[in-house]
Amino acid sequence: MTEKYLIANWKMQLDKEQAIQQASLLAKLLSEEKISKDLRVVLCPDFIALSEVADIIKGSKIALGAQDGFYEEAGAFTSQVSMRQIKEAACQFVILGHSERRKLGESDEIINKKIKAALEQGLVPIVCVGETFDERKEGQQDLVIMHQIYEALKNIKPKPDQKIIIAYEPVWVIGTGQAIGIADAFYAASLIQQSLLDSLPDHDKKYCGVIYGGSVNSSNINDFVDLPNIQGALVGNASLDAQEFFTIIKKIK
Ligand code: 13P
Repeated sequence: MTEKYLIANWKMQLDKEQAIQQASLLAKLLSEEKISKDLRVVLCPDFIALSEVADIIKGSKIALGAQDGFYEEAGAFTSQVSMRQIKEAACQFVILGHSERRKLGESDEIINKKIKAALEQGLVPIVCVGETFDERKEGQQDLVIMHQIYEALKNIKPKPDQKIIIAYEPVWVIGTGQAIGIADAFYAASLIQQSLLDSLPDHDKKYCGVIYGGSVNSSNINDFVDLPNIQGALVGNASLDAQEFFTIIKKIK
């Protein structure tokens, strides 16, 4: 993948007014700044703020993503939002399999169905994988990551030019302010690239990317994006403040 991605996962952190304020400020800051033509900036607000943020960023350098989506297209599925509806809401991206959803019981099988549905709608799935603290303590991290990728991509057949992004998010560093070490990130990204090759042997690797997530901020962003096998970052806390996220964006050359 030649592009770089900076994806803001706002989780359930902002109310609508705050989401509008931060999206407006970021769009304004970016309108006055020249950014790398290969950089894609994506905001993933909650569902409630999606349409307002879509209006704000229309015509700007920012793309829109959802934080989840359901695999059925339509029907009696109370509370769910389909990939088609997400697409209609002007999203191009969707985060799937985030550890905060896995913790609530989302299975590999469900994530697999969601990826399939997202691709059918032409959305770019951002598939999160990563080990917990206990899994790492037991030396299971490689197996966990490989298993999550194999299961997520089982029988997935993307169209030749469809993009798939895997976000490596070690669960134990999310929201701690302390990112993983550079060598560990490099190693995990290599493992993920190999697992991608194994899972999608016929898919052109220029459409597959690996990004890192977990306590990314403006001080450590370059540690990760400067690695040859990491194409960007999925940012939680540090993306909630447009000025800080803008500082991160400016660090990408
Ligand atoms: P933090 O950047 O707050 O650690 O969150 C990472 C994350 O979970 C992004 O999806």
